[in-house]
Amino acid sequence: MSDDHRPLAGRRVLITGGSRGLGAATAHRLAGMGAEVVVTYRQRAEEAEAVVAACAALTPGARAEPLDLLEEDSVRALFGRLEAAGEELDVVIANAAATAFKPLLELKLHQIDKTFAISVRHFLLLAQLAFPLLEPRGGRIVAVSGADTVGYIPGHGLLAAAKSSMETLVRYLACELGPLGVTAVGVLPGYIDTESIQLMAGPYHDKLKAAEELTHPLRRAATPEDASEAVALLCLDEARWLNGQIVQNDGAGLFAYMGRFGHAWAMVPDAATGTAPPAAGDAPMLGHSDVGSERAEAGG
Ligand SMILES: NC(=O)c1ccc[n+]([C@@H]2O[C@H](COP(=O)([O-])OP(=O)(O)OC[C@H]3O[C@@H](n4cnc5c(N)ncnc54)[C@H](OP(=O)(O)O)[C@@H]3O)[C@@H](O)[C@H]2O)c1
Repeated sequence: MSDDHRPLAGRRVLITGGSRGLGAATAHRLAGMGAEVVVTYRQRAEEAEAVVAACAALTPGARAEPLDLLEEDSVRALFGRLEAAGEELDVVIANAAATAFKPLLELKLHQIDKTFAISVRHFLLLAQLAFPLLEPRGGRIVAVSGADTVGYIPGHGLLAAAKSSMETLVRYLACELGPLGVTAVGVLPGYIDTESIQLMAGPYHDKLKAAEELTHPLRRAATPEDASEAVALLCLDEARWLNGQIVQNDGAGLFAYMGRFGHAWAMVPDAATGTAPPAAGDAPMLGHSDVGSERAEAGG
């Protein structure tokens, strides 16, 4: 395969939370682009090893490392091992996250501490410890934020507060590390169909997924593979001038939310409001049929 198809050949990328979900999909995509990936996991060693095997088949050298972002010592130990092995890094992707999805008044202090430990306290420690390994290669920190920092999602107040802080740290890192040749960027996905969404939605997961599929501009509920596309793009050299940006990779889903509100009526059965089913065509404002556009024009 030509270098055009393996633009990350010779690069080493560390991905936290690479045992499943977005982290695993990103690791696989990056390995396909030629990167040697180091994926971290907290508990699921077997799943991490399966990710590693798939990545190693694309680019040799993939491996898994334990990392618990709740524990300062675990973060220090990981970078101690990397340093001892003399391993530099081109990109560190801070992807792992965990929280309690609850209304703010129901949150326990330990849940607040844990959420902030992963996404703020130890995100910054990770950046501090990664810097010496990134600097020789003019490397990059890529932080994964989320749609809850942009708009209200029930049960997401705590994670949103932590991720907003993480976004602020990314902007400051961009300014402080930029002069030293290291860049920092954030990526902000919308819905991704992973275990964490299933945990959040519980028995309503299928309805939530169906709502995405019906109303998202791309008419999909994003998979981890979908969301990993832009994360991988941010690892390319050519993304250097995105330094300090928080790049939305939500497929316009967030911008479209008001429009989705406009579509919500479509999910209400006609019988629920006594509306007579239309003889033909869509609502006038959608303009998907001749009947609709005539009506829209007539109405001015
Ligand atoms: N899913 C979405 O809809 C969505 C939307 C926007 C943003 N995001 C963001 O995207 C990122 C990935 O989300 P996801 O849904 O793919 O997550 P996920 O499926 O829940 O996977 C979480 C990953 O993080 C690891 N992890 C959990 N707790 C950890 C800890 N204390 N220390 C270190 N690693 C830990 C897990 O390791 P083990 O497998 O070993 O447990 C796993 O690899 C997160 O930052 C999330 O906030 C997700």
